[in-house]
Amino acid sequence: MLEIEHLTVRYGAIQALADVSLSVPSGSKAAVLGANGAGKSSLLRAISGLAGDYAGRIRFDGRDLGPMSATERSRFGIAHAMEGRRLFRQLTVQENLELAWNFGRRGAPLRASLDEVYARFPILGDRANLACGLLSGGQQQMLILSCATIRSPRLLLLDEPSLGLAPIIVTQIYEFIDAFARASGVTVVLTEQMAMLALKASHHAFVLRRGTVALRGASADFLERGAFAELSAAYL
Ligand SMILES: Nc1ncnc2c1ncn2[C@@H]1O[C@H](COP(=O)(O)OP(=O)(O)OP(=O)(O)O)[C@@H](O)[C@H]1O
Ligand SMILES: [Mg+2]
Repeated sequence: MLEIEHLTVRYGAIQALADVSLSVPSGSKAAVLGANGAGKSSLLRAISGLAGDYAGRIRFDGRDLGPMSATERSRFGIAHAMEGRRLFRQLTVQENLELAWNFGRRGAPLRASLDEVYARFPILGDRANLACGLLSGGQQQMLILSCATIRSPRLLLLDEPSLGLAPIIVTQIYEFIDAFARASGVTVVLTEQMAMLALKASHHAFVLRRGTVALRGASADFLERGAFAELSAAYL
């Protein structure tokens, strides 16, 4: 269970999140929606330890993450696929995967973990020795996701996994997320601007508006109600 209580994140004078409380049951998927600047990435960064100091409490599986560094959180099983395809661009595909594996929980041996990635995304196997900066956008997104899953995470944080991708790649990426979550039982928190896509891919949804939770509920309820007006109002 991910439990967030009264989370406030500031960057100097800018308050990115104000008194956010939410929880996500273990093994389920939560979507965090909201407009540009709503605080989605800040929420994920606070959880993975990349947002610096925050006020409030973040617990995962009963453990307070507050005293843990980003590296300790990664070893504990929190994997964060950052927005903007953050990779080591001069390193090869395989070197990126090896580094990621090293910082994770090392649930399976390295070779077996690499083989699993290449079985899932054969194109990454074909390009294993290529500098990853030379991959296409879709291939880079496959790699950044694989760098997160190769850590054997307990909690997977995905920041806008569909951003800038062709529809067919988006479908492939979401099928992968779904299959990985089912097979591993990992808890997933993903952010998206594309509300429909994220609602279909999740159990719970939270809509952030200017750093606070404006709406929350079961994703299926939002879809059934056709809560489009409600959602778009929250985006303003
Ligand atoms: N490192 C930083 N320094 C200063 N302000 C920041 C920093 N990172 C984010 N902010 C500000 O915090 C607020 C929330 O930003 P955040 O990146 O969390 O939003 P977001 O919902 O992820 O937006 P987007 O959809 O554009 O990715 C914004 O006003 C942003 O300008
Ligand atoms: Mg963002």
